[in-house]
Amino acid sequence: MRLDKYLIQASIGMRKEVQPLIREGLVTVNGNVVTVPETIICEKTDCITYRGEKISLGKRQYYMLHKPAGYITARSDAEKATVLDLFQNVNTNSLFPVGRLDKDTEGLLFLTNDGAFDQFLMNPKCHVEKTYFFWALGSLSEEDKAALCNGLSIGEGEKLTKPARLTIVREGLYDVLKEEIISPIICKVKMKPEGQPVVAGYLTISEGRKHQVKRMLKAVGCYIIYLKRTTIGPVALDESLPKGQYRALSEEEVRSLLD
Ligand code: URA
Repeated sequence: MRLDKYLIQASIGMRKEVQPLIREGLVTVNGNVVTVPETIICEKTDCITYRGEKISLGKRQYYMLHKPAGYITARSDAEKATVLDLFQNVNTNSLFPVGRLDKDTEGLLFLTNDGAFDQFLMNPKCHVEKTYFFWALGSLSEEDKAALCNGLSIGEGEKLTKPARLTIVREGLYDVLKEEIISPIICKVKMKPEGQPVVAGYLTISEGRKHQVKRMLKAVGCYIIYLKRTTIGPVALDESLPKGQYRALSEEEVRSLLD
């Protein structure tokens, strides 16, 4: 295994962080400083240290969390509740969230201590698809739907979004559909919903830009009032998990995500 990959898997940092640490001479292999990140080491027999401390891969942890609204996706925060606060009876010392969901977004979030797993799922080149269910104020014309699927501009100077898939499951007036609408969790929307058209659907994207789904819908004149991530790659949110609960991913689920 490459030395930089070993450090990532030992949760020392991401690739762009561990490579400079190696080059700076902070890592030794069997007592010798090694400054080449690509050096091949044997994870079973070699003794690796970082800043003088022996490091090891330890047991890898992989969890699926049903994130509720109201929690920020971070390891810790001085004021706000974080997704790590939802974990009990689990050693969360080296656990971190894979990617992020906005505070008001619900649904599937992975947490792990495996840097390589995180890098694979987050690397835009790996094109891991994520599906989101949304309710939005507004209506979508056929042109809007095509733009969402084919790519559209969501910010000045940004590239067009990559091809996406859209499945609309409800369209109509708020007043008619309001019993079905999952209670709006996004309060920043100024307009009153009464008398407005609403639309619900699933959007599958393979990128992870900040507020991407909200910005894509906004680009076609719709305002998300509810957002939930339902799948990442081949793994769907286990709907038997109540909001705020988590479970370990099975070996098969982990394998299927890395395939
Ligand atoms: N897109 C968003 O707009 N928000 C999320 O939390 C995730 C994807």
